[in-house]
Amino acid sequence: MKISIINGPNLNLLGQREPGIYGNQTFEQYFIDLQAKFPQIEFDYFQSNIEGELIEQLHRVGFSFDGIILNAAAYTHTSVGLGDAIKAIDTSVIEVHISNTFAREDFRHTSYLTPNAKGLILGFGMDSYRLAVESFL
Ligand code: DQA
Repeated sequence: MKISIINGPNLNLLGQREPGIYGNQTFEQYFIDLQAKFPQIEFDYFQSNIEGELIEQLHRVGFSFDGIILNAAAYTHTSVGLGDAIKAIDTSVIEVHISNTFAREDFRHTSYLTPNAKGLILGFGMDSYRLAVESFL
């Protein structure tokens, strides 16, 4: 099984960015543990701060992978293009967020992705990604 993990803007700063909300771990550290937990899965990881690059990555993996886990970060709340890309591809997308966006500012309560995603997992810290992997198994 091939699963693609795609992280959006500012998630390259996990570990140092607002640790009270996002924790102290870098994604790279977490990703090592995740891969060890699921040795049967072939993971691909991509991060970009650029909206168009995230769309292009969805196009690249969206016709051959078995699942996509997408944390589009701030673009979740703004990007019609990412929502359309999820609709355009074959592979199911699970939308994830580290924080509980519904417990935060009002502008984080809107997602352009959820209507086209297979599911939504949020608020479990980094463990949101593991739960998304479990959902594909
Ligand atoms: C986030 C939540 C978004 O609202 C925010 O813009 C992020 C991270 C999360 O994982 O909790 O950058 O997607």
